[in-house]
Amino acid sequence: MSELRLYEKKVLLALKELNGKASIDAIAEKSGLAHAAVMRAALSLSEKGMIKLYEQKMTIATLNDEGWSYLEKGLPERRLLKAIIELGGRASIEEASKKASLPRELASIALGWLCRKGWATIEEGICISKIDGEPPSGSDEELMKLLAERGKVSIEYLNQEQNNALGILKKRKLVNLNEKVQRFLELTDAGWKIIEKGIEIAEEVTQLTPELIITGKWRRIRLAKFDVEAPTPPVYPGKAHPLQQIIKRAREIFLEMGFTEIRGPLVETAFWNFDALFQPQDHPAREMMDTFYLVNPSMGKLPRDSLVKAVAQTHENGWITGSKGWGYRWNPMEAKKLVLRTHTTAETIKYLATHKKPPIKVFSVDRVYRNEQVTYKNIAEFHQIEGIVMGRNVTFRDLMGVLKTFYTKFGLEKVEFWPCYFPYTEPSAQVMVYHPKLKRWMELCGMGMFRPEVLAPMGIKYPVLAWGGGLERLAMIELGLNDIRTLYGNNLGWLRRTPLCR
Ligand code: PHE
Repeated sequence: MSELRLYEKKVLLALKELNGKASIDAIAEKSGLAHAAVMRAALSLSEKGMIKLYEQKMTIATLNDEGWSYLEKGLPERRLLKAIIELGGRASIEEASKKASLPRELASIALGWLCRKGWATIEEGICISKIDGEPPSGSDEELMKLLAERGKVSIEYLNQEQNNALGILKKRKLVNLNEKVQRFLELTDAGWKIIEKGIEIAEEVTQLTPELIITGKWRRIRLAKFDVEAPTPPVYPGKAHPLQQIIKRAREIFLEMGFTEIRGPLVETAFWNFDALFQPQDHPAREMMDTFYLVNPSMGKLPRDSLVKAVAQTHENGWITGSKGWGYRWNPMEAKKLVLRTHTTAETIKYLATHKKPPIKVFSVDRVYRNEQVTYKNIAEFHQIEGIVMGRNVTFRDLMGVLKTFYTKFGLEKVEFWPCYFPYTEPSAQVMVYHPKLKRWMELCGMGMFRPEVLAPMGIKYPVLAWGGGLERLAMIELGLNDIRTLYGNNLGWLRRTPLCR
């Protein structure tokens, strides 16, 4: 009980006086509280189970301008009747309307009602009053008075007679009707019980002022309690884009795991993007369909001769690797072509060309481009999470461990490794993660151990674990999206609603 706020108590008392059930308006009037205060009390009291809050569609009737003017001057038929009586009970239509100062259009309306109400008859253009004095106001006039007094009336509250009168006022176009949702409060049993116990109204102080303290009044007053969990208007502070937050988190996780970040240019030669990774020059991924080739400049530089030669030979016949190679004639012009990198593996292999000794643990989170049809799960410009580990004795198991750790740190539980194929790794696999919202497994990351055909030309004699995966798909799972395009749509509503990442 003591927890009830003053305005809550006032609402309960008003409800009691209104027999336990009333509209917000009625309670505001009875309690003297502001509408908003009643509403606030309604919400908190219904949370406490003391009242029930419900809505009902109501039709609100108000007088329109014409209605108001008739109310002031009297209905035209009443004015006409008065004129006839004053003219001795008999008068021509013209005479009577002139005396009543009714314009022609109003006069004919007035005549109609005059007869219908049985106040007068007309014989050959002469109005004859059927009553001596002025008649008492009819139900139509009574209703107009009520509307004027109250300002507005819900027609649901009208009785049969008033309803008939409303029909007439409606026909005469003297009222406006508007639909409005009204909120009602009703005391529950629990609410009645509190009231029966008695509600004591002691004014509460919401602010402790210097004056209250100095005068010592603070000892006697009652300080209002604040509900610190009450809902407040939302605020939308500036924050990093959700995707940037996820990029940051991916970086932090790799750093935590002891990796160092590397970065490279967006534009690479096909040599680093494809050839160095033992992808044959007629590989379908190189076709215009998948890769964006630069037009101007269209060619870049190849690295040192010995490296290019080793790659060429490996492609043609396997060189010293024990492989048979692809068995075609390697073309340096094809390798010089400039592309928007299609994967960040271009950067890790380039890194290996100058870092040949273990231990190596590097990663990148960077942008790549593919000429893909844009759909709910594909976009043409996205980010990859890439990395390599070189160690004297690292194995495929270590690779699974690294990735499992990474995705677990990200908060993903259902992580599996499915076998698959890449031209540059053996064995190869892909990380599959279950998307709870899409209810299907999603391919998140390619992985494998670099083949001898990749390592030998770089002069590397140790096993290298490698992986590269989509960042946006990870973001989709993390943010509960089922369309990857949301990440780039800049929908302000979505950006505001999306909370800061963990
Ligand atoms: N580069 C591959 C891709 O873009 C992923 C990958 C990286 C696979 C490294 C194996 C090793 O899908």
